[in-house]
Amino acid sequence: MKKVHIKSFGCQMNVYDGQRMADILSEQGYEETATPEGADLILLNTCHIRDRAVQKVYTELGKLRDLKVAQKANGQHTKIVVAGCVAQAEGAEIQRRQPAVDLVVGPQAYHRLPALLAEAASRRTVDTDLPIDDKFGHLPAPTPKAIRQRGISAFVTVQEGCDKFCAFCVVPYTRGAEFSRPVAQIMTEIERLAASGVQDVTLIGQNVNAYHGEGPGGAVWGLARLMQRVAEVPGIGRIRYTTSHPRDMADDLIAAHRDLPQLMPFLHLPVQAGSDRILAAMNRKHTADEYRRLIERIRAARPDIALSSDFIVGFPGESDSDFEDTLRLVDEIGFASSYSFKYSPRPGTPAADLGEQVAPEVMSERLLRLQERIEHHRQAFNHAMVGRTVEVLLERVGRHPRQLAGKTPYLQAVQIETESNQIGDKVQVVIERAGSNSLFGRKAGPDEVPRKGLAA
Ligand code: 5AD
Ligand code: SF4
Repeated sequence: MKKVHIKSFGCQMNVYDGQRMADILSEQGYEETATPEGADLILLNTCHIRDRAVQKVYTELGKLRDLKVAQKANGQHTKIVVAGCVAQAEGAEIQRRQPAVDLVVGPQAYHRLPALLAEAASRRTVDTDLPIDDKFGHLPAPTPKAIRQRGISAFVTVQEGCDKFCAFCVVPYTRGAEFSRPVAQIMTEIERLAASGVQDVTLIGQNVNAYHGEGPGGAVWGLARLMQRVAEVPGIGRIRYTTSHPRDMADDLIAAHRDLPQLMPFLHLPVQAGSDRILAAMNRKHTADEYRRLIERIRAARPDIALSSDFIVGFPGESDSDFEDTLRLVDEIGFASSYSFKYSPRPGTPAADLGEQVAPEVMSERLLRLQERIEHHRQAFNHAMVGRTVEVLLERVGRHPRQLAGKTPYLQAVQIETESNQIGDKVQVVIERAGSNSLFGRKAGPDEVPRKGLAA
């Protein structure tokens, strides 16, 4: 069998796309291998979101060129493919900078991989067509074996692309306009995953809560309705969705957090900044107070919900007092976790042309201060779990023998010692200790299990 090594950078959609490409290539006689050494085909599934992500790709390609040369000396012909968002944004420029690359394929063209690989056998090839000619309708289903190997938690793309045009962001250019997959297609995929043991699905999209897919009889379904249908699939016990925009938190979606037991009480809802002036310059289309009120409504629907966010520091024009507004928002909301980044000007985005770029040392200092606050709240959230009993879905073997690792409904990693359980079990766990990245606990005794419907 031929061997393919796939390395994905960036977001969860790239993880999903990497799996779909593995499924396509498996039909072509390729099996996946964990290392590039010895592979016949090496595929980098790339991210364009910040400049640093792009530089990583070129560094990696330099190493792969050396490997390709070394393998050729041993009589093995290695093909290098660049897929994903750098492929989309830079196209043929990639092969100019790194001639060892045989094929460049964008995120909307990878269903054509077999034909493109055949073409790349004789000449360097680029396919970065953006219009979606129903890519999803052309993707082979994963085999039950592939599903089981990937584990009991799965990502499913339900929406792709973005029409929001935040001033800093490349996504509308790399992933294209918003597109929602039809309900029936998504359901077929999830039913298949569940039949092979998947219990936990995360519905993904760059702007997932803007989902508006074609439902039965041609009706348009929103995300809440879709999740109600997903919750009916036997075996699916946990549902999540990511990433959402505050403007698209519809009333029925907020209500689903109250009414849908399978919907986990954890929501990633990026706000990016706490200053109205900066939010307006970012074209986020909401104020900091609108975000605060939205969080209040979500918490009223689901009081134990945990929240996370993304933040950008040093957006052009951000003053000290704008930055203080961000810190204040972080302290007020008390996010369970968050990602934070220095602003990175991206070619072709409106913000790249703004004056008043913030000095690098100011950005570094702000990022440190922000991360200190984010970490403080993350630790507080994790430590507040100590002594509580929570349901943990066991997903993988732990760090030590007899340990299994899983997740709480709030997406925290938990390690427990158990000899009577296996991966896929849901167990009630008393949290005994909070480490820096994991919680540690023991199985709860019968009188320590909270009654159903009550938070522990
Ligand atoms: N610079 C820095 N961070 C960015 N993000 C998106 N574009 C940029 C950029 N140009 C961050 C946002 C987004 C996350 C996925 O990446 O916070 O939510
Ligand atoms: Fe990176 Fe955005 Fe592309 Fe995901 S969609 S890989 S975050 S640029």
